[in-house]
Amino acid sequence: MAQEDVFKKLVSHCKEYGFVFPSSDIYDGLGAVYDYGQNGVELKNNIKKYWWESMVLLHENIVGIDSAIFMHPTIWKASGHVDAFNDPLIDNKDSKKRYRADVLIEDQIAKYDEKISKEVEKARKRFGEAFDEEQFVTTNARVIEHKAKRDALHERYKKAMNDNDLTELRNIIIDEGIVCPISGTKNWTDVRQFNLMFSTEMGSMSDGAMKVYLRPETAQGIFVNFLNVQKTGRMKIPFGIAQIGKAFRNEIVARQFIFRMREFEQMEMQFFVRPGEELEWFNRWKEYRLRWHKALGFGDDHYRFHDHEKLAHYANAATDIEFLMPFGFKEVEGIHSRTNFDLSQHEKFSGKNIKYFDPELNESYTPYVIETSIGVDRMFLSVMSAAYCEEKLDNGETRVVLRLPEAIAPVKVAVLPLLKKDGLPEKAQQVIDLLKFDYNCQYDEKDSIGKRYRRHDAIGTPYCVTVDHQTLQDDTVTLRHRDTMAQERVPIASLESIVADKVSIKSLLKKLV
Ligand code: GAP
Repeated sequence: MAQEDVFKKLVSHCKEYGFVFPSSDIYDGLGAVYDYGQNGVELKNNIKKYWWESMVLLHENIVGIDSAIFMHPTIWKASGHVDAFNDPLIDNKDSKKRYRADVLIEDQIAKYDEKISKEVEKARKRFGEAFDEEQFVTTNARVIEHKAKRDALHERYKKAMNDNDLTELRNIIIDEGIVCPISGTKNWTDVRQFNLMFSTEMGSMSDGAMKVYLRPETAQGIFVNFLNVQKTGRMKIPFGIAQIGKAFRNEIVARQFIFRMREFEQMEMQFFVRPGEELEWFNRWKEYRLRWHKALGFGDDHYRFHDHEKLAHYANAATDIEFLMPFGFKEVEGIHSRTNFDLSQHEKFSGKNIKYFDPELNESYTPYVIETSIGVDRMFLSVMSAAYCEEKLDNGETRVVLRLPEAIAPVKVAVLPLLKKDGLPEKAQQVIDLLKFDYNCQYDEKDSIGKRYRRHDAIGTPYCVTVDHQTLQDDTVTLRHRDTMAQERVPIASLESIVADKVSIKSLLKKLV
């Protein structure tokens, strides 16, 4: 199945099975804003729990905070967001549609990449076993031509972005003959900068209302609390502050479902270190964060680092962890060495001393910062897309199964009475009462047992427990495993010990130490 179709199916699966709904659905939705349903919220909470515990439980020198969404507006001046948190936008005069100029150009680069891939795939089919890809891409005239055009475009684009040259971005769009997908014309406006922050007003007009922003990242809430936490927690460098919370960006091109949203959630951790030690810590955090992702077991080939070519002026190293989504490798997490830029800026704008006195060195300095920043929603999407599977069964039927890591599955155990009578529902309820303090369990008595198994496969429930007449006699049940569909007869008394280890977040955390 084409990856595009897989993605469409995933989006409708998310809605059909209570994972993600468009926001304000009965009013036809609101662009790039989504709600999480009954299963989605459980999965999302489990992802957050896995992240939080991997940071705050496993590291004695990391603590958490929960800062407010509204912050003093000067914070966003100090951080550079008021002046520079922009995307270059361009309008098509015929369709009146607005685009990100950089995205139009990146899509054009991707088109050259696609052309190259198509040539390679055609040749692979033609030559079979004997195909030597490296030789082909370096000698085939068509591939060489596409690659030369692609590389030239990439260079030109990179320079325009580095120089912040909006006229050149427009020239590239014109020279490449890029057309509006709606009108099909090249009737473009100039490229302008567009600030991504949402703003609102705080206080009544008679008070003199103050313009405040909805935070576009959670990180600044950590920076401005650096001293509060360091002093009250008696934290010694190196140490980290972690936070999970909502962020808001007025994205011009909001697409690919929950990949790019206007309201989303971030899990960010700022790790404060001595100046000069930041690159060593950067590499350590890179390695740790990749391990965190890989522990989910989707396969190491689903991840890659993408080191930034263009560094922000305050960063001295930056990389993304990319995940293989149905629409290609995409950023899920950013790891940045942000020097002492943010703390210094807040020191300057607030007029407060934000230095740290290092008792071992007997000197004060502004700490350097390594940031790990991951989007909860993007992580959710990566997990769903890797877990979604349509499987052909021996009997010719197809089942949809979410092969979620057991520890983050929304429902851990489904308890199913075989029939709605003969005391089986009551017995099933007793099983739930035994397990419900530790795991999210679901009681389900509607439809045939086969249909109920399918329903739970589709939401990724790792275990189904069936209560039948034999259960009433010997207190045993049928335990069905989601992935293998294997069934075994087990005593109710041993259910907890069978399930316990596998479904707890601890099973993932243990892989990290
Ligand atoms: N404090 C650093 C920071 O915010 P970023 O690369 O802009 O860095 C970090 O964002 C992560 O937040 C991204 O890797 C992505 O997972 C998530 N993210 C950013 N913008 C998003 C959006 N519009 N929708 C969903 N997730 C987003």
